[in-house]
Amino acid sequence: MTITPRAALTRSYELRYGEAFMPLCPELVKPTPDTLFSAPENGERANVETRLSRLVGYLTPIDRFYVRNHGATPRIERDSWRLELEGDGLKQPATLDYDALCALPRVSLVRAVECAGNARSFFKSRFGHQAGGAQWRTGAIGVAEWSGVRLRDVLALAGVRDAAVDILPEGLDDVRYARPLPIDKALADDTLIALAMNGEPLPSDHGFPARLIVSGWLGAASVKWLGRIEVACRALHTHWNKTEYTLAGPSWPERPPADGVPVSVMPVMSVAELDWPAHLAAGRRVIRGRAFSGEARVARVQYAVDHGPWREAELGTPNIAAAWVCWSFIWNATPGNHTLRVRAVDEHGQVQPDEVEWNDHGVLFNAVVAHPLRVAGY
Ligand code: MTE
Repeated sequence: MTITPRAALTRSYELRYGEAFMPLCPELVKPTPDTLFSAPENGERANVETRLSRLVGYLTPIDRFYVRNHGATPRIERDSWRLELEGDGLKQPATLDYDALCALPRVSLVRAVECAGNARSFFKSRFGHQAGGAQWRTGAIGVAEWSGVRLRDVLALAGVRDAAVDILPEGLDDVRYARPLPIDKALADDTLIALAMNGEPLPSDHGFPARLIVSGWLGAASVKWLGRIEVACRALHTHWNKTEYTLAGPSWPERPPADGVPVSVMPVMSVAELDWPAHLAAGRRVIRGRAFSGEARVARVQYAVDHGPWREAELGTPNIAAAWVCWSFIWNATPGNHTLRVRAVDEHGQVQPDEVEWNDHGVLFNAVVAHPLRVAGY
């Protein structure tokens, strides 16, 4: 299998964008200008978050979809790419090429991918010290239309044994990123191997040629640059479900060999399409945002400005479970400093809390935050 060094990839973008193109993150292939992205403090080598104020439309365009990599983006040649299926949970091993995947029934789904550490920076403002990891604000989420094939159709080519417990999808990046997934979720109707994103072949940074999309779960489950899937008749453990992407710390139980509770479904949360702090002109303003809740659909979004009462925001369409809903309200902005609080409620009655418990890895922060608004006079 051929993997081209990153330098060769960025060169083609440099040619396209000339000197005007200043990548925010040279470990990535797509341009990441600071007008569309910001780099989280403490981020590893290849992380950029979406500037939510630059969202347009329901889907997150590829050019502004956040990227969370544990290493540099690898470039994989489609023709030499293979997906290996193996393990004692399969009736026989199998090797598939790109054409073999394309021959399976195609499925398209609109789904969110959200980093478990989204909004991690707020642990510092609440608890006075940082939780480990990239200090994301709220832009480590995006929603795209993912097209590909069902993972269960792929695994069926090798025959899944009834005794199978976990699968281990493994990436072809230099860290060989791999996070186990329970077999039930692997075989779910809406667990995909995606080959396309928003109607385009999967971009390199988002997992070309093939990545998992695990609906409603933390982004870390959606393994990019798939190269191998083990199916096992025992529980599987890697660094990424034992000591990262777990709820660990004094308030959380240990689940040996994990240091805490491995994260699965993402909680209910809302974000505003505003810079932090937001700078607005006085007058009638439409304030917009998005709300989402793991595998569920959002039922209501409420907002409060300063110490005012909670009011209902208007919800847009579509409102897709495991994706998001757009919300908006009209605000008569008066000069001065204000705060905006927003809370989402999902179809199961889960409400965004006012506070969350501390956890050492800073995952699943979904408390209501006070978004600073600075309104200038005319
Ligand atoms: N897959 C591989 N192979 N390597 C990675 O570093 N990062 C994971 C996941 N899949 C990762 C990966 C994490 S932590 C997240 S949040 C999502 O990819 C981010 O997906 P995106 O970069 O397409 O937004």
